[in-house]
Order: sequence, then structure tokens, then C-alpha cells
Amino acid sequence: MSERRSDAGSRPPLVGSFRGLRIERHRATMAHLASVYPFHVDDSLGQAGPYIGVNVTAGMGGFYFDPFALYVAGVLTNPNMIVTGDIGSGKSATVKAFLRRSLAVHGSRRFVAILDPKGEYLPFAHRHGLAVVRLRPGGRDRLNPMDPRSGDDSSDVITRQSLATALVAGVLGRPLDATEDALLGWAVANLARTGHPFTLVDVTAAITDPADELIALSRRTPLELAQAATPIVFALDKLCSRTLAGMFDGPTTVGEQWASGPGLVVDLSAVYNDHEALPLVMLAATSWLSTVLQRDSDQRVLQVIDEAWAAVRHGARHFQGSLKLARTYGVSTILICHRPSDLTAQADDGTADAKIAAGLLSDIQTRVIFRQPIDQVPIARELFALTEREATWASQLVRGRALWKLQTRGLVAHTVLTADEMAEFDTDAAMS
Ligand SMILES: Nc1ncnc2c1ncn2[C@@H]1O[C@H](COP(=O)(O)OP(=O)(O)OP(=O)(O)O)[C@@H](O)[C@H]1O
Ligand SMILES: [Mg+2]
Repeated sequence: MSERRSDAGSRPPLVGSFRGLRIERHRATMAHLASVYPFHVDDSLGQAGPYIGVNVTAGMGGFYFDPFALYVAGVLTNPNMIVTGDIGSGKSATVKAFLRRSLAVHGSRRFVAILDPKGEYLPFAHRHGLAVVRLRPGGRDRLNPMDPRSGDDSSDVITRQSLATALVAGVLGRPLDATEDALLGWAVANLARTGHPFTLVDVTAAITDPADELIALSRRTPLELAQAATPIVFALDKLCSRTLAGMFDGPTTVGEQWASGPGLVVDLSAVYNDHEALPLVMLAATSWLSTVLQRDSDQRVLQVIDEAWAAVRHGARHFQGSLKLARTYGVSTILICHRPSDLTAQADDGTADAKIAAGLLSDIQTRVIFRQPIDQVPIARELFALTEREATWASQLVRGRALWKLQTRGLVAHTVLTADEMAEFDTDAAMS
């Protein structure tokens, strides 16, 4: 609403030089100004990349987005994104539209990798020709999280050690003590040194039946070593025989043919309702994905991780590493979660993991904030450094409309879907 301001006294204040035109002071919304000046619109972030929709806060001009182009232009210093919002606010629809249009605009220069805990990207995969890896206990597809990275990478062994540690700590529900950590680290390093592929089952065997070298390194008697190793042997056994069984406990069975197509969807819907297993499965799957995506290629990768809270629950440290590596390998990671605190609230406050989880946000410069429940607004304001006005918008956004915060710049954009996309992305079919 425009509002005429009348200060005390009979005459409204005047602005401008008294020698020029005398006009009364007005306040107006952008919507009113846009109707007064219909052809004046902000060009948002430029037109590199796919069209997303309209920039509501800048006269309804077109809104285009491509994290790689903005990185090259110096607008962003990393290409990672977080998409957060209440249930049904439009997160998935915007991400799917962005992926679909990125493939349409950039063709084979883009590759899409999706970690799909709900199985909701399968129609998208079929329609756009993405390969699907279906992980289910006892299923046909298996991924080996102990697979080496292609090329000569000195951090490879450390990555595999830290993944094994995170998985075992996740099962035990506590960090490993110094001896356990050393034992697991030695076992992984010894197996890696042979140059042959190995699996978590081989790691379990190497600790259950330690080589003489490992016993000597530990400076303990075989009996003392066996006692110290008991918790990790049980944890590894649980991982291989139950939690990750039939999915991550053997050699990778998925061929490399997925690499030549437009993308890959890893379907984890079979374990979505198992809240104990899901974070461990997500950790193993994100780790496998980041290993295979670190390759020399001209393709830029858009990696989507839905239900991101589960991926960071046991793996904040591991996950942070892959966000940082993303720039080296041209990978933009897009995390989707309901609440802004989903990433930071997974570990107890004050622990190293909690600090790492909080630090994840500093490696994510594009924050796409859909409607927030009122109790989340103060948290969103603090975590995403929103202004007072942006925080107010965050609780008032309609479906499909989000506050895009890039570094310190904020704008509200409405994702415009085509009729085809609306039908394809409809997750409300049962309700309507
Ligand atoms: N920009 C839009 N224009 C029109 N319809 C939309 C738009 N965005 C989302 N929708 C519709 O709203 C419904 C919910 O959207 P979506 O599944 O993207 O929500 P979500 O935030 O991902 O929900 P959840 O939290 O359950 O994952 C879908 O049926 C979708 O088609
Ligand atoms: Mg969704």
C-alpha cells in the first residue's frame, strides 16, 4: 500500500529543490512502483544459466541461475547450495526444474548425481535418461565405499580411513578411542598398500585376525589387541551383516556405463524408514559418490543430496571434506533439508562434530530459503545472516517462492513451472 505521510502541521513535507517541481513525500511497495515504472526491472544475477522464474523483489524480471557461471564471474566463491523450507513449500520442484533446465541449456557439459532417500527422483531419472542404482538389502546393486579414487591421490587412504572410522563410530554411538582409531586406520592402510581392491568385509577380517605386523605396531600381546579390538569388530560385523548388508558390503557391481549418460540416481528408498540405518547408508553412499565424481572431466557436476540431515549425522567431518573438494573437481553440491538447523543440530553442542557441522554452512554460499515455520525463523535469521526484512519474508513465502541469499545479496524469486513440469513434479497427487 502506498501511503501519504503527513508530518505535524497542515502542509506535507516537500522533497527536492524548491526551485524545481514540488512533490509530496511518498512511500510505496515494489509492486506499486513496478506499475508506475512498468519497464524498469533489475537484471538479477544476469542471464547466464537456466531460467528459474521471476525475481519478485525486482519488478518481476527474469531470474536465471548457474553456480558455475557465478563462480567464474566472482559473485560466488563456492558453487555449493542449501535448499531449505517447510514440507510442501516447493524445494524439490525448484531443484528438479533447475536440474532439468541445466541439462537442457548445457547438454553434455553437465552431469547430475542425485542421492534419493525417498525414491522421488525415479520418474525424473526415467524421463531424462539418468542411470538408476537401486540399493536395497539383498538387492542386485552394490557399491563399495572402500573403492579407491581414480588417479594418484595421496589423500585417498586418509579418506577411506576416516570413512571407516565414521561408520564404526556411528554404530557404536561414540567416538573411537585412540587404540581403536589406530587399529582401524592401520587395517585400512595395510589393505590399501597391497594395491588390490578391498571391502569392509576385508577390513573386518584384517582386525579379527591381525597380521603379525599389526600386532608388532600395536605394542600389545595378541590377547590385549583382541580385547581392544572387540568393539570395532562387533561394529564392523553389524555393518556388514545387517545395516549395510547387500548394499555396501561387497565389490561394486554397478558398471561404469552410467558415466557416459546425463546422470545417476542412487535410490535409497528401501531404507528410508529405518532411522538407525539411513544415516549410515547415506554416509556410505555420499562417500562413494564423491569418490567417483572426483575425476578429470570437462563436465560440471550437480550433486543433489536430499534429506541432508541424515548424510551429516555421522559424517559431518567426512562431508566437509567433500564440500571443499567440490571446487577442485567442478562439483556443485545441493543439500536439501526441511529446517535450517537440520545440518547443525545432528551432533551434541560443543563437540568437534557440532562445530564442523556449523562450519559446513560457510562452505555453502547459495542459500535458497523457502517458507519457514515461525519457530524456525530466528534460527534461519542467525544461521543465514538474514536482515530483519528477509526474516519476515521467510515466514510469509507462498509455495514455489524462495528467498535466494547469495553471499550478502538477497532476492525473492518465484519458480515458474511449465504445465509438463507441474505434472511431472507433482508430489501432491494423493491430496488433490
Ligand atoms: N513453483 C511452483 N509452481 C507450481 N506448483 C509448485 C511449485 N513448486 C511446487 N509446486 C507443487 O507443490 C507441491 C509440493 O512441492 P515439492 O514436492 O517441491 O515440495 P517440497 O518442499 O519438496 O516438499 P517435501 O518437504 O515434502 O519434500 C508439488 O505438487 C509441486 O508440484
Ligand atoms: Mg521434496
